[in-house]
Amino acid sequence: MGPVFLGPVFFCPGLGLLRLLGDWGGRFDGGNWRILAGMNIIRLRVAASFFAATDTVTIVVEPVDGSVLEYRAGQFLTFLFVFNGREVRRSYSFSSTPGIDPLPSVTVKKVANGEVSRYLIDHLKVGDVVECLPPAGKFVLDEGEERTQVFVAAGSGMTPVFSLIQEALYRRSEEKVVLITQNRDWNSILFRDRLRDMAVEFPGRFRWLNLLSSPGLGSVVSGLDGRVARLNNALLTELLDSMEIWGGDRGRRRPFFYLCGPPGFMRMAVFTLRLLGVADQDIKRENFVVEYVPPPPVLADTSPREVVLDVEGAAVRFSTQWPSTILQSALDNGIALPYSCKGGRCGTCAARCISGKVRMTINEVLSEKDLAEGLVLTCVGYAETDVELVLE
Ligand SMILES: Cc1cc2nc3c(=O)[nH]c(=O)nc-3n(C[C@H](O)[C@H](O)[C@H](O)COP(=O)(O)OP(=O)(O)OC[C@H]3O[C@@H](n4cnc5c(N)ncnc54)[C@H](O)[C@@H]3O)c2cc1C
Ligand code: FES
Repeated sequence: MGPVFLGPVFFCPGLGLLRLLGDWGGRFDGGNWRILAGMNIIRLRVAASFFAATDTVTIVVEPVDGSVLEYRAGQFLTFLFVFNGREVRRSYSFSSTPGIDPLPSVTVKKVANGEVSRYLIDHLKVGDVVECLPPAGKFVLDEGEERTQVFVAAGSGMTPVFSLIQEALYRRSEEKVVLITQNRDWNSILFRDRLRDMAVEFPGRFRWLNLLSSPGLGSVVSGLDGRVARLNNALLTELLDSMEIWGGDRGRRRPFFYLCGPPGFMRMAVFTLRLLGVADQDIKRENFVVEYVPPPPVLADTSPREVVLDVEGAAVRFSTQWPSTILQSALDNGIALPYSCKGGRCGTCAARCISGKVRMTINEVLSEKDLAEGLVLTCVGYAETDVELVLE
């Protein structure tokens, strides 16, 4: 069944127009309603969709109001649907790059029995309108000094990586770009033709190493740096060493790493990089799958706490108490904080804590720098004291 758009809108003093969702099952029925100041729901029309690889489709979108969607390469959109009266949110990374592709696009792989991916691939048509949260995410190019950018991706994890590689090659000056991809076979390589073109266009700057785990008889692996292999610790170490990315001194102008793929693949890659002496601050990860959400932490004092949320200068107050997360308490109070994965993996729910103490049970997305700047994930964050947060 397709999405249903329904439900009333209420005005709440101090919050502007707020959609009160009894069970978080409704949707906005027109216009860009402000659910909290600064938090617009965006309506996008499907401008085109096309086959990208096995079981994978690219969906090109444009804002219905004719505006230009502002986003950064590597970020994602969180789509909002209602299926059978139940709100469902899913995030999809941009496969496009601003300033390079005329319109934004996402690239969706069909997940077996997947609720939303199957809907997007099998039922969404050109001209349909979808609703989503504003672009979000921290999987963007590192802003620091110029250095080699190394991307390690598997399957649909190639989506944000492709967006970033286009930005690195076309919009940065001299940086070298190295890409290691893992796919099952030739037909499941996302953006294969564009990657091949870029390898020809930037011979001195872009190196793509393409691994196929089961290419099948007669499959083509030649014409590229292609191998039949499955990436593991030893092979990743060997490949990185062979590509001269360390610059002779692992301490100087060290490369920056971007990882996106299934959970096991990401764990293997992070483990290998740590063994090679790469610092956590030089690794960015984008997790598509929430495998596990830890239970509430053990807190010495579980008294109710006050949360003051600063949204564009207006203070919104609500109470929270263990074992409820800050996000869940806000939602229970009818305050529409943004979220997507609810599992500490995507960063949509991030807020800056300017006073008090928040305990997070997991963090797969905020960097050391983000943490030092006070960012917290409200979906896995528990107030240990009264807290004051600023919505990012
Ligand atoms: C920040 C972020 C960016 C993302 N970007 C993309 C993207 O660019 N392209 C894309 O195709 N997906 C992307 N995803 C994954 C996407 O949001 C959905 O999780 C995915 O499409 C499955 O949703 P579903 O409703 O079809 O399946 P569900 O009904 O949620 O899940 C069905 C089953 O499949 C499992 N499952 C969920 N996701 C995956 C997966 N990716 N691989 C294997 N098993 C899975 C679930 O655990 C569940 O058991 C992203 C996720 C996040 C958090
Ligand atoms: S909603 Fe994804 S990290 Fe909180």
